[in-house]
Amino acid sequence: MGHFHFQSGELFVERVSATNIAEQFDTPCYVYSKATFETNYNRFKAPWRDHPHRICYSVKANSNIAILNLLARLGAGFDIVSGGELARVLQAGGDVSSVVFSGVGKQAAEMQQALDANIHCFNVESSSELELLNQLAGDAGKTANISVRINPDVDPLTHEYIATGLKENKFGVNSDQVIEVYRRAAALAHINVAGIDCHIGSQLTELSPFLNAMQETLKLVDLLSTEGIELGHINMGGGLGVRYRQENPPAIEEYAAGLLQLLGSRELELVFEPGRYIAADAGILLTRVNYLKDNHDKHFAVVDAAMNDLIRPALYQAWQQVTSVRSNSAQAREYDIVGPICESGDFLAKDRSLQLEPGDLIAVECAGAYGFVMSSNYNSRNRAAEVMVDGDQVHLIRKRETIENQLALENLLPP
Ligand code: LLP
Repeated sequence: MGHFHFQSGELFVERVSATNIAEQFDTPCYVYSKATFETNYNRFKAPWRDHPHRICYSVKANSNIAILNLLARLGAGFDIVSGGELARVLQAGGDVSSVVFSGVGKQAAEMQQALDANIHCFNVESSSELELLNQLAGDAGKTANISVRINPDVDPLTHEYIATGLKENKFGVNSDQVIEVYRRAAALAHINVAGIDCHIGSQLTELSPFLNAMQETLKLVDLLSTEGIELGHINMGGGLGVRYRQENPPAIEEYAAGLLQLLGSRELELVFEPGRYIAADAGILLTRVNYLKDNHDKHFAVVDAAMNDLIRPALYQAWQQVTSVRSNSAQAREYDIVGPICESGDFLAKDRSLQLEPGDLIAVECAGAYGFVMSSNYNSRNRAAEVMVDGDQVHLIRKRETIENQLALENLLPP
């Protein structure tokens, strides 16, 4: 875990002990390492060398404005899927001329907002979206850059909920309709055909689906060229997996070498939308053990974080490493790590051998991507605080919610 490491039997984030962070900011708390974000971004950026490329961090993975600002300072562009994410990028000082707008259900108002901001490109997912965008761009006196997101019908070999490039998925335009959509796009007055787009899923741990998707995309690029439609970029989306347990995702160098080889001498800019690769191992969820209990021969550690804080285990049966923050001499047992929420789906981990005592702190690792952003107020729980460690400094980047924050939006009925 690099910047998350043990020192004298205790977990440190960069140069700060996790125990001190919990004392200062309370738990549950998301703790990020600034150096890890920097390392991950630079690692993703390196292998493209002088081939023209643009890295648009996928905001949905972790949209805290401090994180967006950090990535903007490193030179990242952004991949957004809503007007809310665009507002975050703007608030964080992101370069709007490197923003791409993805998503199968963009609302007219969101498209207007993106046109007003002069984003780089819309990743269009259907012909009806294309027609609407043309109309809105015309009304705004603008020309919208587009790429068409293709659905190459390639199996990404990942969890079915996060597979997006199969023909049964709602995403993209089938290969046999793509040319027709491009012909129409080329004929529309307020549309500029800029590129092609293909994102087949998330947490991919094999190289071959990426290569198959790239081949499908390049076939279309070449076909379009014979029709006189020349593209400027290929957007291969995000999806590169990380190691949560024993997965062996391709190294970024291998991924880059494979794609560049297929691209050959074609002079197209490469665009990427990595989310998990940049954010996942840059964060942990710090939580405290409230109770230890046994039901028959089953052992439970009831902690103060719950499925509302981290839903990945409940939603995708995701496995994330759980570690004690400080070693102790308690007896090792197989624990289910569960939260206070009133359903049996409320677990962070199952069957983990840990030495625990009530009051202990534990860390759920690799929680920087799709952690806080998917949290909710279920059971009227306040969403966790988020802090960013930078060397020996800790910055609060999101306050813990209060019940007043939650109640502020609600009204009683009239008497
Ligand atoms: N681009 C598009 C169009 C996407 O839909 C996504 C993710 C990404 C880029 C970024 O993919 P990444 O590099 O992070 O794999 N909540 C799930 C993951 C959902 C991913 C949705 N789309 C999870 O916790 O595993």
